[in-house]
Amino acid sequence: MELFNVYPLFDVEPVKGEGSYVIDKNGQRYLDLYGGHAVISIGHSHPHYVTLVSAQVEKLGFYSNSIQNPMQKELARKLGEISGFPDYSLFLCNTGAEANENALKLASFKTGKSKIVSFKNSFHGRTSAAVVVTDNPKIKAPINFRNDVVFLEINDLGAVEKELATGDVAAVMIEGIQGIGGIRIPDPEFLRGIRELCTKYQSIFIIDEVQSGYGRSGKFFAFQYADVRPDLITVAKGMGNGFPIGGVLISPDFEPKFGMLGTTFGGNYLACAAGIAVLDVIKSQKLIHNAEEVGNYLIRELAKIEQIKEVRGLGLMIGLEFEGDISDLRKKLLYEKKIFTGVSGNNIIRLLPPLSLKKEQATIFIEKLRETLAELS
Ligand SMILES: Cc1ncc(COP(=O)(O)O)c(C=O)c1O
Repeated sequence: MELFNVYPLFDVEPVKGEGSYVIDKNGQRYLDLYGGHAVISIGHSHPHYVTLVSAQVEKLGFYSNSIQNPMQKELARKLGEISGFPDYSLFLCNTGAEANENALKLASFKTGKSKIVSFKNSFHGRTSAAVVVTDNPKIKAPINFRNDVVFLEINDLGAVEKELATGDVAAVMIEGIQGIGGIRIPDPEFLRGIRELCTKYQSIFIIDEVQSGYGRSGKFFAFQYADVRPDLITVAKGMGNGFPIGGVLISPDFEPKFGMLGTTFGGNYLACAAGIAVLDVIKSQKLIHNAEEVGNYLIRELAKIEQIKEVRGLGLMIGLEFEGDISDLRKKLLYEKKIFTGVSGNNIIRLLPPLSLKKEQATIFIEKLRETLAELS
């Protein structure tokens, strides 16, 4: 059987990971400024992570959500504590799209409404409700087009109020920092404004922190720069450092009912072991602080490179916008300089490295990038 061919692939076969490096089958090391698409939070093969996940698989890998699993409670407690949302409750699932799907359902259950306000250039996933609120017609099948979603310009609070004032809106959904859309940060006043409007018009405020959360921005959640409290927060990617796990943090205003949400695999023992290890390491190695410090250094130094049109980002979630197409630049960085980077559109490089990236490794990237740009000019 062949694989269903939906991914354009680079000609690299990684077989091992160590901190901020991946190593291919020929023993070649690559500096990882992509983190497997913002997933590697604590670094590849972190010893504490390897120990917890390995020990768990030896004991018990899976049962179901119909028995007592204290690891889920431990994960929820640690997440509540480190994020500053100890009074919220946690629903565990497996992916970012699933987290958003459940958040949208909760908003609709609670308000009895179905209209959603989303934003231009947003990405929330590919499953049915998540793709409906994603601003990319190319990844929607005919069943995914609905007319009860509007895509507004980010930072246009007047447009948000106009929609909410109709009284029909179940939720406003926004990314903490737009990732796939090109590292675009909503203004703090805009987020605070949405908070007020959602309260005023009885709509649910959902912030998608699937990519920007878990310390990546230099705060646990990117929206914490705006000091707001959304009703629902979705997480995934960095949560398991590669083990599939996602979650919805749910404000105390929501009342659970048996059967309201559910999943077979969500919250399984291995996912919990991975999730607990990630939070332990983020805390003990002060990785949020590291993301802020190394991120600020990168942003400052990259802004000095004249070929870059604009540098945007917070912490270790950084976009480098160029005038023209960057595919040759990325290929050269990968194949010649041995550095993985991410992309957005055809002219934005996205940096999403492990939160444990060291300043020396950031310096290597800056030097190699300068070198490559000089070679290409
Ligand atoms: C902001 C955001 N939300 C949701 C998703 C979907 O996550 P997943 O691919 O785990 O379903 C992504 C994935 O890139 C994302 O960046």
